[in-house]
Amino acid sequence: MQIKRNLFLMCLTLLLAASVSAQTFKYIGADKCKMCHNKPATGDQYGKWLKDPHAQSMKTLSSQAALDYAKKNGIADASKDAKCLKCHSTFDKAEASLRGGITQAEGVSCESCHGPGSAYKSPVFMKNKEQAMKNGLILPDKNTCIACHNKENPFYKEFNFETYSKKIAHPNPAAKK
Ligand code: HEC
Ligand code: HEC
Ligand code: HEC
Ligand code: HEC
Repeated sequence: MQIKRNLFLMCLTLLLAASVSAQTFKYIGADKCKMCHNKPATGDQYGKWLKDPHAQSMKTLSSQAALDYAKKNGIADASKDAKCLKCHSTFDKAEASLRGGITQAEGVSCESCHGPGSAYKSPVFMKNKEQAMKNGLILPDKNTCIACHNKENPFYKEFNFETYSKKIAHPNPAAKK
């Protein structure tokens, strides 16, 4: 009886813990990832991202092409319009309040692809893929990309997962695969 009861309580606690954390994952911003992911020996993901177009995607919304498109389509300011921000920034429509420490200026940031990092950023979880994923980490695949790389984009170019992935790759040379 006692064992059953303890088991029940344990399950309940686990369930509660899981549902609480699922609701509280917050976006923390690329600076927080930077402190651990800027080492050349493990792939300098932060440095690679800074040079990749995703880190520049908010600047693009102020480019001449964006200004022209906005003017033609009655958009007052592309860099402030949800129609453009939804793909050019780490934009969370449903839960604006869960953004935490991330700014729109970061553009398409780590967490656009890897999920909000408030929980998985902990070193205990980071070293264990399964634990990290339980705490919100996404290891992105094609579907992650086509959430933005699709024809809703007024400047759509055909998306090829293999070639596009190579352009933004930031592997960890020290990781055991
Ligand atoms: C306190 C240090 C730390 C912070 C902060 C941190 N990470 Fe990590 N992360 C690690 C370590 C350690 C690993 C294991 C691999 C390695 O040594 O680089 C890892 C692994 C990963 C992996 C690979 C997981 C796998 O098993 O394939 C991803 C993806 C990742 N981190 C993304 C992020 C993102 C995005 C952020 C910011 C939201 C972040 N990390 C913040 C330390 C950290
Ligand atoms: C949150 C939206 C979003 C997601 C998710 C996303 N991208 Fe992008 N991507 C963009 C935007 C916006 C640009 C344009 C950046 C710019 O030039 O300002 C872009 C540009 C790129 C480019 C540069 C294309 C060129 O013409 O040079 C590559 C490569 C790319 N993305 C690959 C990927 C891959 C691979 C994935 C999935 C692993 C992915 N993207 C996921 C929004 C996204
Ligand atoms: C569905 C996601 C999505 C939406 C919505 C979106 N974009 Fe983009 N945008 C992208 C992606 C992805 C790219 C990169 C395309 C590529 O190179 O493959 C891009 C590229 C661009 C470029 C660069 C074009 C070039 O050829 O260099 C401009 C300018 C731009 N977008 C402006 C806008 C404006 C203005 C809006 C709002 C009216 C907007 N975008 C809405 C995803 C989107
Ligand atoms: C456009 C989407 C995108 C963005 C933005 C992005 N990543 Fe990734 N990341 C990926 C993809 C795709 C992989 C490969 C996943 C796999 O191997 O299953 C990956 C893999 C990783 C890995 C594992 C590398 C390995 O070989 O083990 C780490 C660590 C990582 N990313 C950290 C970051 C950090 C930190 C940032 C921001 C500074 C970032 N990523 C931004 C898409 C992205």
